[in-house]
Amino acid sequence: MKVTVVGAGAVGASCAEYIAIKDFASEVVILDIKEGFAEGKAMDLMQTASLNSFDTKITGSTNDYSKTAGSDVCVITSGIPRKPGMTREELIGINAGIVKMVSASLIEHSPNTIIIVVSNPMDTMTYLVHKTTGLPKNRIIGMGGALDSARFKYRLAEALGAPISDVDGMVIGGHSDKGMVPLIGKAVRNSVSVSEFLSEERMDQVVQDTKVGGATLTGLLGTSAWYAPGAAVSAMVQAIACDTKKIFPCSALLDGEFGLSDLSIGVPCVLGANGIEKIVEISLSDAEKAKLAESAEGVKKTNGLLEL
Ligand code: 2OP
Repeated sequence: MKVTVVGAGAVGASCAEYIAIKDFASEVVILDIKEGFAEGKAMDLMQTASLNSFDTKITGSTNDYSKTAGSDVCVITSGIPRKPGMTREELIGINAGIVKMVSASLIEHSPNTIIIVVSNPMDTMTYLVHKTTGLPKNRIIGMGGALDSARFKYRLAEALGAPISDVDGMVIGGHSDKGMVPLIGKAVRNSVSVSEFLSEERMDQVVQDTKVGGATLTGLLGTSAWYAPGAAVSAMVQAIACDTKKIFPCSALLDGEFGLSDLSIGVPCVLGANGIEKIVEISLSDAEKAKLAESAEGVKKTNGLLEL
């Protein structure tokens, strides 16, 4: 299993590190445009191999896509991250051109690859890759919901005073501060609805804190988060590499599912060796359906800014 990570910044390097530590891939190639940067990150990570007990071979390349040839999965993290006060959508002007070039270069050397898009605005960048590459739609996946769900579980565990291993919940919809749809009505503490432990007000606070999870960290860090984004995308890569059939909320191109079409947005997906094995049309309350439809309108509005 060969994985390419484009972008040796904090998210890409964290993703590469978590993939290596999980040791399910034989090779990880990190690629960046900054001279020596990917090579340095790869070498530094390889010097943790004896300490973190992994055999994965990590190499770096300065913009030489031939080194990515034959990749089974390619992760696109390249582009600029947001600064405090920015929305993810404001990044489209610069990141669209980068993502379009990167995806074309990856496919040139790995025509059978599965692409996972992380760059923001992620749902629109994922849609861009669908529209410009023509790869089968099951092989283009956007990473946002896995990260948002991890933040949702963090906030739920905090509110419940429970170990995070006892908590489950999912966030669907757009990966945006306003468009996320944390499914609080389906969230559980060891199979028991969280509504049996938390007041309406506290559940609303969990939802709100989840929706601005990224912005909260950007305010604290001065740039976008990287540990949880890297961990989220590495978990998706592992599901594909190991054909686990785990369900993750992923940005997937819809063609009628949930009554939505011609956009990529976060919905429950079974991930396996073929990428998106199945979009799971879970039952939604009328309120959840309305929120998802509203979120889709927001994603389509951002898609409209693309020059396709
Ligand atoms: C986040 O929410 C980078 O969009 C990513 O942190």
